[in-house]
Amino acid sequence: MNTLRHYLQFKDFSRQDYDHVFQRARWIKDKFKRYEPYHPLFDRTLVMIFEKASTRTRLSFEAGMHQLGGSAIYLNTRDSQLGRGEPVEDAAQVVSRMSDLVMIRTFEQDIIERFAANSRVPVINGLTNEYHPCQILADILTFIEHRGPIQGKTVTWIGDSNNMCNTWLQAAEVLDFNVHVSTPPGYEVEPERAGLYGTDHFEQFADPLEACRGVDLVTTDVWTSMGFEAENEARMKAFADWCVDADMMAQARPEALFMHCLPAHRGEEVTAEVIDGPQSVVWDEAENRLHAQKALMEYLVFGKV
Ligand code: CP
Ligand code: NVA
Repeated sequence: MNTLRHYLQFKDFSRQDYDHVFQRARWIKDKFKRYEPYHPLFDRTLVMIFEKASTRTRLSFEAGMHQLGGSAIYLNTRDSQLGRGEPVEDAAQVVSRMSDLVMIRTFEQDIIERFAANSRVPVINGLTNEYHPCQILADILTFIEHRGPIQGKTVTWIGDSNNMCNTWLQAAEVLDFNVHVSTPPGYEVEPERAGLYGTDHFEQFADPLEACRGVDLVTTDVWTSMGFEAENEARMKAFADWCVDADMMAQARPEALFMHCLPAHRGEEVTAEVIDGPQSVVWDEAENRLHAQKALMEYLVFGKV
C-alpha cells in the first residue's frame, strides 16, 4: 500500500516528486488529447470542500476525477455542518472514512493542517490564505511546456505577497530558480509566513520595472484576495503603480511569458494589452490545472506508477 501523503504546501514534495508528477502530467494530458480513456481512479471518490468561491479549482478537480474514472462530491460551508461549527477534526474523521481523496479550499493554513492530521486519506490544498500549490504546479507545467526546465530561470512577481506569491517562493527553493518580488510598501514578503528556508532564491524590489529586468516570466494576481475584501479600498490606492503593463513586459527578456492564475481584473493588476497579448499564456495555464491535478491525484493514491 502507498504511504499516506498530503499536498498542503509546495514544499511537501521534493524535486524528485515533481520530476515524476510533471512527467505524468504530460503523459496524462497527451492521452486525454488523443481521446484515449485512462481510468486508474475507477471507483474512487474525491470529496471537495469549499469555504471560498471557485470556478477553475472546482471544475478542474471535478472534471479531472471524472476523466480518471472516479467521482467527485462537492461540499461547501453554507450547506454542510462545517458552516455550523462542527470541529474540523471531526469532519476529517468522517469525510476520510467515505472517500479516497479530499481537496479543501479554506482560510487559514492551520485549518487544512488540522484536517490532514485527522484524515485517513490524502488531503490536497485547493487554496488557503497562505498557499495555492495546485496553481503553481499548473504554472510550472505551463512554463516547462513553453520554455523547458525552470531551473536557473527568473520569475518576477508583481503585486501582493499573497498565497500565490508565497507558493512561487517555495517552488523556487524546491526547484532551484529565482523570484524577483515587487510589492507596494507595507505589503512585502514575510519569509516565515511564506514557509521559506532562506532568502537565497528571492530578491525584493521597490521598483516594479527594475524587478522585471531580464526575467523569463512575469506574473501577478488580484490586489485583494478572497477573505481580505475589507481592505479593498486601501489596497486599490496602495497598488496603483503595480499594474503589469507593456513597459514592464518590455523590461523582461523578449521571449518572457506572462501568467495570471485568474480571475483577473483588467486595468487593475494587469492591462488588457498584456493579458490578452502575445506573451500571455493564461489559457494554457488554466487548462493545465486539469492535467497537473490529475497527475497529482494519481501520485497521491498510487505513488510512482
Ligand atoms: N485560479 C483559481 O484557483 O481559480 P478559481 O478561484 O476559479 O478556482
Ligand atoms: N490570491 C487569490 C487567488 C485566487 C485564485 C485569492 O486568494 O483570492
